[in-house]
Amino acid sequence: MWETIGKSVFKDQRTLSFDYVPQKLVHRESQMKRLIMLYRPVVESNFAQNAVLTGSVGTGKTATAKRFCMDLKDFAEKQQKAVDWVLVNCRQRNSESSVVLHVVNHFQPNFPDRGFSITEMLRILRKDLEKRKVHLLIVLDEADVLLRKAGSDIIYKLTRFGEEKVESKELVSLMLISQKNVYDMLDTASASTFKRTNIIEFGKYSTDELRDIVKLRAELALHDGCIDLDSVDLIAEVSSEWGDARFAIEILEKAGMLADEEIAGRISVEHVRAAKAEAYSSVTESKLAGLDKHQKLALLGIARTSKGKAYVTTGEAEGAYKVACEEYDEKPRAHTAYWGLLKDLDTLGVISAKKSGPGISGKTTVITLLDIPARVLDERIRAMLQGKQRAR
Ligand SMILES: Nc1ncnc2c1ncn2[C@@H]1O[C@H](COP(=O)(O)OP(=O)(O)OP(=O)(O)O)[C@@H](O)[C@H]1O
Ligand SMILES: [Mg+2]
Repeated sequence: MWETIGKSVFKDQRTLSFDYVPQKLVHRESQMKRLIMLYRPVVESNFAQNAVLTGSVGTGKTATAKRFCMDLKDFAEKQQKAVDWVLVNCRQRNSESSVVLHVVNHFQPNFPDRGFSITEMLRILRKDLEKRKVHLLIVLDEADVLLRKAGSDIIYKLTRFGEEKVESKELVSLMLISQKNVYDMLDTASASTFKRTNIIEFGKYSTDELRDIVKLRAELALHDGCIDLDSVDLIAEVSSEWGDARFAIEILEKAGMLADEEIAGRISVEHVRAAKAEAYSSVTESKLAGLDKHQKLALLGIARTSKGKAYVTTGEAEGAYKVACEEYDEKPRAHTAYWGLLKDLDTLGVISAKKSGPGISGKTTVITLLDIPARVLDERIRAMLQGKQRAR
């Protein structure tokens, strides 16, 4: 069997995985420079610093933050200063205590995950930092999820925590990453420690920028000459709709795997097209997996009313949402909260909510499903909702 599989186009497929952080992030030089400017006083003058990174999906926020943190640590080491960093994914850890626990675990991997209050854990963290004489940069990735679930109290605690100096040295800096503008989600006390000027924006990548990113990642991952230039162009083209580098890299990897399956030896545009068709469904799948119950129910309502139609009105969609809530024994959210759910789904890119549309008179908001057929979506969400109920 093994002798028939042919030579792979990949020389190092690992470099296409999501947690691989390239040495250099092309077209993120200005963001990187601003990060360096903002955080250099941490190393040079023992100051704490805070910043917010925002931008839409796949614009390199997490990757840039990780690259920056690694470089910052190296830079500090060269100056005989101890700076360390820890990244917390707040989608996976969306309560105050699990965030703080993850940070404590950075120094004490076996710290018990129960039985300590947040105040106690912060005291333990302080001791660890003082003992090691280290300044810690805490990166809260997808911070909006935490702020929505748990409020901004933790931000306040962590920024104030940094202010109590030890030998005129501040201990903790923060970096918040989010697709949404988290600044407006902070209470006034925490917002006052975050300067508005410390917001670093990550714009969507243009087709040209995506082409450079794909080229770079292809060089790392593929043997020489294993991808046609046309294929690189096409990947940039199809992912430029969202300006999303993650989507581009995912297509590159899938196309490579399809080329290997055919023992083609190189990635052609046909492999890219096939990969795009497959990737659509998996991108949607990962978006759906991140939804909470009421977001799912709202989407289920939209899917049910959208069958065969380009647009539905919010009135129709909300009616169907209420029916879906009844089916799943949930109390429907009030009208204004329902609008919040629509906004979430819109931000996530599963629907688009816009004022009016063709064939609908007056100024009403209409909803369009983006890249998944209504019937397929209906089935997927029901399966997810039932799966969840069984688990409880
Ligand atoms: N400029 C770049 N050069 C090379 N690779 C990049 C670049 N920007 C992003 N990538 C890659 O694209 C993928 C997505 O980037 P990243 O995870 O940083 O996006 P993000 O902005 O954090 O998205 P999300 O909001 O969905 O979390 C990663 O695999 C990352 O390595
Ligand atoms: Mg990210």
